[in-house]
Amino acid sequence: MSKAFAPYDLAGTRLAHRIVMAPMTRSRAYGPGLSATELMATYYGQRAGAGLIVTEGTQPSAVGQGYPDTPGIHSEEQIEAWKKVTGAVHERGGVIFMQLMHTGRVGHPSLMGLTPVGPSAVRAVGQVYTHQGPQDFVTPHALTEAQIAETITDYAIAARNAVLPERRPQTQADRG
Ligand SMILES: Cc1cc2nc3c(=O)[nH]c(=O)nc-3n(C[C@H](O)[C@H](O)[C@H](O)COP(=O)(O)O)c2cc1C
Repeated sequence: MSKAFAPYDLAGTRLAHRIVMAPMTRSRAYGPGLSATELMATYYGQRAGAGLIVTEGTQPSAVGQGYPDTPGIHSEEQIEAWKKVTGAVHERGGVIFMQLMHTGRVGHPSLMGLTPVGPSAVRAVGQVYTHQGPQDFVTPHALTEAQIAETITDYAIAARNAVLPERRPQTQADRG
C-alpha cells in the first residue's frame, strides 16, 4: 500500500490516511455575526473522507478579518455555529482542525467597521476585495506593545474556542 494511504498518528489524533485538505477561504459566513452556515456544514461534511481537513482561515478577533464573509471563532454565536460543521465531519468519521487567520493590515474598514492593524502604520500596496468591489488597502493602526499582547491572547482564546469543550485540555484556572 502506498504510504499516502497509510494511517498516521498526529500527536495522538489518528488520521485514516495522509491526504490533507488545505485551508481554503470560501467567504460563506453570510450575516452580521460572521458565523459558520449550513452551507459550510454541508461543504465540510462532504469532504470528511480527507485524512484531515484544515478549515478556511478563521479570524480570532473582529479586527482580524481581511475578506468578506469569512467566519470568526471569537463570539459565543460563532463557537456554537462551528459545532454544526464539526458535527457534520465527525458524524462521517472525519477529522477537522481550524486554521486561525488574522490578516493584519490586509483588511478594510468596510469589511469590519474597524481600522486594520499592523506592526507599523505602513499601508500595503494593492487592493482588497470588499462587498463594494476591490478597494485600496488603508494605512493600518500601529499596534502598541500592550495591543500585541492582547492579539496574542485573542489567538490563545480562539484556539481554545475551536476545541470542543469535552476535548479541551484543562488549564490551571479550570482546576481552581
Ligand atoms: C480558493 C482558495 C482559498 C484559499 N484560502 C486559504 C486560506 O484561508 N488559508 C491559507 O492558508 N491558504 C489558503 N489558500 C491556499 C491553499 O491552502 C494552498 O496553500 C494553495 O492552494 C497552494 O496549494 P499547493 O501548494 O498544494 O498547490 C487558498 C487557496 C484557494 C485556491
